[in-house]
Amino acid sequence: MLLKVGGVNQASGRPEGIHWHSNSSDQVYYWARDEDREDIPWVDVVHADGTHTIYKDESIQTAPPKEELRLMDCMDCHNRPAHIFRSPNDLVDAALSKEKLDRTIPYVKRNAVEILSMTFKSKEEARAAIVAEVGRRYAKGLPEDRRGKLVEDIYAIYDVNNFPLQGVHWRTYPSHLGHKTSPGCYRCHDGRHREEAGKAISHQCANCHDFIYQAHGDAAYGPVTYETRPFEHPGEDTSDYETQLCSDCHNEKVGWYPGHVDGKRDPNARPKEPEPEAAPEPEAAPEPAPE
Ligand code: HEC
Ligand code: HEC
Ligand code: HEC
Ligand code: HEC
Repeated sequence: MLLKVGGVNQASGRPEGIHWHSNSSDQVYYWARDEDREDIPWVDVVHADGTHTIYKDESIQTAPPKEELRLMDCMDCHNRPAHIFRSPNDLVDAALSKEKLDRTIPYVKRNAVEILSMTFKSKEEARAAIVAEVGRRYAKGLPEDRRGKLVEDIYAIYDVNNFPLQGVHWRTYPSHLGHKTSPGCYRCHDGRHREEAGKAISHQCANCHDFIYQAHGDAAYGPVTYETRPFEHPGEDTSDYETQLCSDCHNEKVGWYPGHVDGKRDPNARPKEPEPEAAPEPEAAPEPAPE
């Protein structure tokens, strides 16, 4: 994926791309309904000649108080300058690709993401729960030493992403530099913020990035070729990713690989029945990966 980060075009002197917002000729003001500035119904762009373009969504009719408008700056997107927390889904993907999680364990991604999406009051409670969950899910499927290794690997991911003593974990401050697990750019670029004539703040995927290459299955391990194409959402039900918010399904409340399209499942709700495929028979388990 190629991001159109932008800046000032040296030839024309015109600011463009993603860093257009912090240019000096047009100023983007907005009004947020909440303290975390995640709910933004009103955007007021003041152009160099002093004219305004106001974009608003259906939820607001009258202008908000002027003194509550905020001039957009770097921190409205770069809200997580230092420690970047990532969703369990992304961390588990990274661990699998770096072989920090044994990818030969059946359903390891799904189980690890589900466990890491639970919340715990302390690191001790987390460790005990991970031991219990791995035991329950792999009672039959894995020998004890591999279960022990899996517990350590999952705990290592938990440990960098949750600080229960400080009350901070990966859900606390969603990053605004994207739009997958929280609204981020879609706080304004969701196609629902319109100016008077009905034109919405740009929502086209290609305004912000190009998808150079996408591959599924074995092809994903092949060399990358330069081939610009539209995004192909994985899975069979690709119904509505263009008009729905990505975070309606991939949200921080769910945080895992969304096997459920309603995205509403309580992350702490444990499945009532043990999932049949989560505890395969020993002979179904493939050989352990070489170190
Ligand atoms: C509209 C949202 C937004 C605003 C406002 C914004 N940025 Fe960015 N910035 C981004 C995005 C998106 C990226 C690309 C992030 C990535 O690669 O993951 C980025 C990347 C960067 C980079 C890395 C440069 C590169 O070419 O990869 C720097 C440095 C940066 N921003 C600084 C700033 C500063 C300083 C400000 C304020 C003057 C600012 N940004 C305002 C969204 C924004
Ligand atoms: C507070 C509202 C707001 C947020 C949040 C926001 N934008 Fe924008 N953005 C605007 C407005 C308003 C425009 C100008 C209208 C348009 O181009 O549709 C704009 C324009 C743009 C443009 C086109 C600039 C050009 O070259 O003309 C890009 C690219 C862009 N935004 C990327 C992003 C990205 C990426 C993020 C998230 C990291 C983001 N925006 C977050 C309000 C916002
Ligand atoms: C307003 C700008 C903007 C628009 C419009 C936009 N994106 Fe993005 N997108 C971003 C930014 C910024 C990121 C974060 C890049 C990063 O993490 O470095 C991102 C990330 C992504 C990712 C990577 C998610 C991951 O797994 O981490 C995908 C896939 C994606 N966008 C698809 C789309 C599709 C499809 C559309 C159109 C329906 C779209 N985007 C519209 C700015 C935009
Ligand atoms: C209607 C619900 C829904 C919406 C909306 C949706 N997704 Fe998904 N997404 C899913 C489901 C379900 C999967 C798992 C599909 C599978 O593998 O069978 C998935 C998988 C993915 C994956 C691969 C696995 C991962 O999470 O790394 C990416 C990347 C992705 N979606 C990006 C996006 C982006 C970007 C958007 C918004 C432009 C979006 N999705 C909107 C439901 C949704």
